[in-house]
Amino acid sequence: MTWGGAKLMIRDHGNRRILIVDDSPAFTEALAKLLAAEGFAVDVVHDSDGVIEAVARSAPDVVLLDVELPWASGFEVCRSLKQHDVTRLIPVVLLTGLVGREHRLAGIEAGADDFLTKPFDSSELTARVRSLSRLKRFTDELESAESVIVSLALTVEARDAYTEGHCDRLSSYAVALGRAIGLSPDELSALRRGGLLHDVGKVGIPDAVLLKHGRLTSDEYQLVKQHTIIGERLCSGLRSLAAVRPIIRQHHERLDGTGYPDGLRGSAVSLLAQIIGVVDAFDAMTTDRPYRASLGAERAIDELRGDAARGAMDSTLVETFVAFAPELLAAPPPAEAWGDSPVRLVEDRQCMMGDFVEPTWVEVATVSAAR
Ligand SMILES: [Fe+2]
Repeated sequence: MTWGGAKLMIRDHGNRRILIVDDSPAFTEALAKLLAAEGFAVDVVHDSDGVIEAVARSAPDVVLLDVELPWASGFEVCRSLKQHDVTRLIPVVLLTGLVGREHRLAGIEAGADDFLTKPFDSSELTARVRSLSRLKRFTDELESAESVIVSLALTVEARDAYTEGHCDRLSSYAVALGRAIGLSPDELSALRRGGLLHDVGKVGIPDAVLLKHGRLTSDEYQLVKQHTIIGERLCSGLRSLAAVRPIIRQHHERLDGTGYPDGLRGSAVSLLAQIIGVVDAFDAMTTDRPYRASLGAERAIDELRGDAARGAMDSTLVETFVAFAPELLAAPPPAEAWGDSPVRLVEDRQCMMGDFVEPTWVEVATVSAAR
């Protein structure tokens, strides 16, 4: 069978799927028989074309990867698998006849989850594969829990057609700003997710309040502010979202203590939340709303600089962002996808808060425009 240019032999004998990447038919045949006897479904890739694609489509629970492939280093293939969003959580076991410490270190650096030295003990091999496939099952369950949160976020966005696309843009803007200041891949990942999920807590705010176009009462405004706390709680059971929770809770905090929900000041506001705060304000000001048209990039930049001048936002973040913000606005980068489902959420108006207390949606634009 040919699959994405790779030759595959399929043995579908179980629920858990193992992919073997090795150029030796005799070796893979023996290994496949061993694993099939243990109840695993086994796929085999013999040649170089489309390994990543085959792994992505096969969705194996464990990859057994030969280090000494004729077409590439197994370390390079492993590194590629660990760098792709779709394949990075799949455990990879390197199969190697290389016993030196330097080879083991190279495997660790490439992101390998385990090693087996050829020739290996069949009992040890099957025990490790069983263990890693169990680990993958836990990972899958966590991903399922994340997908529930993402679904909630989609539900929130669907409630307000006027802000469609906001969270896709927010994610893209935030990642661009994060890259510009040299953040790590993990921090960029948190920004991408934070952009998508920052307002998920609005699922707990009634439509009558969330979508109200007239003046909010004091009680209603207090209720809207709760979306930061509700969102953080929704994600509290997921360790995989641990880096995103501060973004969700703090994205309306301001460095001068005028934000919410905790009135944090200065460095107490996480850097990632500050980044979301900056790009959130820019996007809110540069998109049309039912109560006003876009303010335009030039005006939005003035507003951001004003916020930085009065100490509400970090001036370095603001200046770094405004250096490329008009370009982003003219040619938005592709949406930062979460799996196959780009998420768009509601975001709006409170981001321009600062020196007023009881805003209505109209007033926020008006007050901001008057500053
Ligand atoms: Fe928000």
